[in-house]
This record gives sequence, C-alpha cells and structure tokens, in this order.
Amino acid sequence: MQAFLSVDDLAIAFPRPDGERETVVDGVSFSVSEGEAVGVVGESGSGKTLSALAAIGLLPVSGRVVGGRIRLAGQDVLAASEETMCSLRGRAVGYLSQETGGALNPVRTVGFQVGEAARLHLGLTRRAAQERVVALLSEVGLEEPLRVARSYPHQLSGGQRQRALLAAALAADPQLLIADEPTSALDTITQARLLGLLAELRARRKLGLLLISHDLGLVARMVERVVVLHAGETVEEAPVAALLAKPAHPFTRQLLTAAHTGEESGGTRGWGGEGRRGGALEWGACRFAPRCPEAMAVCWRARPALEAVGAQHAVRCFLHHSAEEPHA
Ligand SMILES: Nc1ncnc2c1ncn2[C@@H]1O[C@H](COP(=O)(O)OP(=O)(O)OP(=O)(O)O)[C@@H](O)[C@H]1O
Ligand SMILES: [Mg+2]
Repeated sequence: MQAFLSVDDLAIAFPRPDGERETVVDGVSFSVSEGEAVGVVGESGSGKTLSALAAIGLLPVSGRVVGGRIRLAGQDVLAASEETMCSLRGRAVGYLSQETGGALNPVRTVGFQVGEAARLHLGLTRRAAQERVVALLSEVGLEEPLRVARSYPHQLSGGQRQRALLAAALAADPQLLIADEPTSALDTITQARLLGLLAELRARRKLGLLLISHDLGLVARMVERVVVLHAGETVEEAPVAALLAKPAHPFTRQLLTAAHTGEESGGTRGWGGEGRRGGALEWGACRFAPRCPEAMAVCWRARPALEAVGAQHAVRCFLHHSAEEPHA
C-alpha cells in the first residue's frame, strides 16, 4: 500500500549570515499509511518540527528543502503549487503546532478561529460553520461548547486551548493529524486526558496520526511504528514492539534507558549546534559517533546508510551492516 505521507531522505538548509548555507536536516525518512499512527522521537534540535513543517509545505520563509522527496495524499509536495498545498492542508492533513502560545489569535473568539478552517476548506456558510464549530468543540471534549466558542483564548485554560486547537486542526476532516509535542506544555493529568482524547479520535475518525515528541515512552503507548531522529537524520525506524524488544541503534538504547529511569536527555541542540558549526552534517562520519559507547574505527571514517535489519525495521549504524567496511 502506498503511504499517505512519505518523506524520503529529506534535507533542509538555512542561509547563514556569512552567506553560506547551513544544513540542519539531512537524511530524515519516515512514512505514514492511511489510518496508521507513527511516532517521531528525538532530542531537542534533532529536526522533528522542521521535517513535519516541510511535509506540509510550511517551512519558515528562509528555510529551503535542498534534498529528498515528499509525497502527501498522492501529490509531490516539493513540486506542488501553493494552491494545491493550501487545499491539502486542512483537508488531507491537520497540523497541531508545537507553538501553542502563538497558534490562536488573541483578538478573535475561539469559535471564529475553529470555524475559519471549516469555512475555508469546506465552503460552509457562516451559519453552517457555527453549527460545525459547536459540534467540533464538543467532539474534543470541551464542556459548554457554545460558551467556549464565544470565549477569547485567554479565557481558557492551557488544556482547553489545546483542545480548541485540536478542533481547528480537525475542522475540515483531515485523514492525517500531525501533532507536534501536543502535551509538553500541560501538567501530567491534563496530558493523559489529551492523549486519551487523541486515541479516541483516531478510532472514531479512522484518523492517521504522526505524533512528534521527545518522550519515547509516551509515543510508544500511542502509535504502531516509531521513527527515531538524531542530529537531523533518521537513525532507526521500527514497529513499537520490535523497537522496545530489540532496539538496534545505540542512541535508541540510550533513549529507552532514559525513558525507564525517567531521566531527561540533554538534547542535541548543544552538541548538534557545536558540531554543525564544524560542519558535522557534512562530515563523512556517523553523527552519533562522538556520543556512542560502541563507536568503531569505521564510524569516524564513513556515514552509515539507513538499512533494513528486519520487517519494517531499519537502522543507520555500522554495528548492523553486514557489508564490508565502506571505503572512507
Ligand atoms: N528558522 C530557523 N533558522 C535557522 N535554524 C533553524 C530554524 N529553525 C530551526 N533551526 C535549526 O534546525 C534544527 C532542527 O530544529 P527543529 O525545530 O526541527 O528541532 P526539534 O527536533 O523540533 O526540536 P524541539 O524538540 O526543541 O522542538 C535545530 O538545530 C534548529 O536550531
Ligand atoms: Mg520541535
């Protein structure tokens, strides 16, 4: 079956003040089939948000896709017109952004903002849109949906705002929801409730889900397959059971240990940033080698490819490559 969304060997770069361009993502691959739930896990700065934004054609203006392929709902995203992308956003894919603070307009009512997507994508009249807003707000578990619709964002709690944003993302009945760290700003109980709601919505709407998080434990409970990113590339991709039972990449094993001990990882932003200034994303070595307890000589000489090690299980690591050492 063809994937509903597929991102293949994606590379993204930004211009630097000195005129050179800085590659911040290079080697991200993942896919989501219709109705499937896939998790994208990685430390801060590993490229999760940029990869998701590129997939829906919404990179920050100065960012450029400089390599790879993206297909969404049968369309080539990198070749599609802005008009095509506009119709795909909302209708094919709903996006719940990581920046919850700025995602709602403070001077517009919640109802107006949820209804905007319905009017835009479904061509509903004002009245029909109003009815749809109330239905959506109650579908995402907001009590007194009429009152919520008339409220301004600051009159709602963080959890309520997140539910309202979810209603907006679902307003045009997308087949896939991309949720970028949907619960990281919420307390534990509110977080658990929102995750429960996402699971319910998935079942009821047969909704595909791309769940982005730094928390592997959380993701593993919600999805069928997991993609692990490190320093701008996919390092492992596997069904949840296989990933938990047989994590192949040393970085995945570190993430799992951290999830068991409840430790927060330090994030790659520091390491990645430092490394990148030294050209880490371009150097011909494994990007994880400087942190890897199992690094071998070859890891410093060549960059491993993402290779299959089992059914739907791929890893970017020389420990698992059967081939001869590549030439540096
Ligand atoms: N507008 C930008 N200009 C330049 N570099 C950027 C920009 N946005 C992101 N980056 C860089 O790209 C890398 C990946 O960023 P991204 O936001 O995708 O990370 P992330 O995995 O989503 O992290 P987090 O978990 O903190 O949300 C980071 O190192 C970041 O500094
Ligand atoms: Mg992010």
